[in-house]
Amino acid sequence: MQLHLAVFVSGRGSNFLAILDAIANGKLSAKIAVLISDRSEAGALHIAQQAGVATEVLACREEEKYEHTLRLVLQHRAVNFIVLAGYLRKIPAAIIRAYRGRIINIHPALLPSFGGKGMYGLRVHQAVLDYGCKVSGATVHFVEEEYDTGAPIMQRCVPVRDNDTAETLAARVLQVEHQVLPEALQLFAEERVQVEERRVRIL
Ligand code: GRF
Repeated sequence: MQLHLAVFVSGRGSNFLAILDAIANGKLSAKIAVLISDRSEAGALHIAQQAGVATEVLACREEEKYEHTLRLVLQHRAVNFIVLAGYLRKIPAAIIRAYRGRIINIHPALLPSFGGKGMYGLRVHQAVLDYGCKVSGATVHFVEEEYDTGAPIMQRCVPVRDNDTAETLAARVLQVEHQVLPEALQLFAEERVQVEERRVRIL
């Protein structure tokens, strides 16, 4: 499948950069059709501009207009696959339905633990430390209507160290995020992802 990606971001965009790098290094066969941000100050926008990737800032608060504009952008850019990489706003249900099986997210913990509404950024890692977990990691998963509930596609672990802070754990998890997200996308590019209910098999 020739991936025509829309990458959605709200912040610094290190996962977006990992996707760009994987494409540049020949590890990922995909084209980034557009970077979409809900925040005009997102660092990812600068990365996109430098890389010559088209950008759209969708900051409107009104839900109907938000959904309508999103649809137009996705159609106009011929997007056939959506990646949420640190996108904090909820995707309208109609768009999730239209892209079901072709919309994925990266979460900085091992789902189904430490996910759901409000679980983002350092809060996730602090919760992992507060629980006393010995491992954490990253999950690439399908996006469903409820936050962080879609089937996992790839998960990779990192150890939790005795002297970790939320920041040091976040940095360790981020390194594996940058590996698994492009790897997962490449599996879609190679049409090696088979889904049976919640079980995702890699062919
Ligand atoms: C990452 O930790 C990702 O897992 C989460 O949001 C963060 C985004 O970081 N969903 P970045 O903008 O890709 O650097």
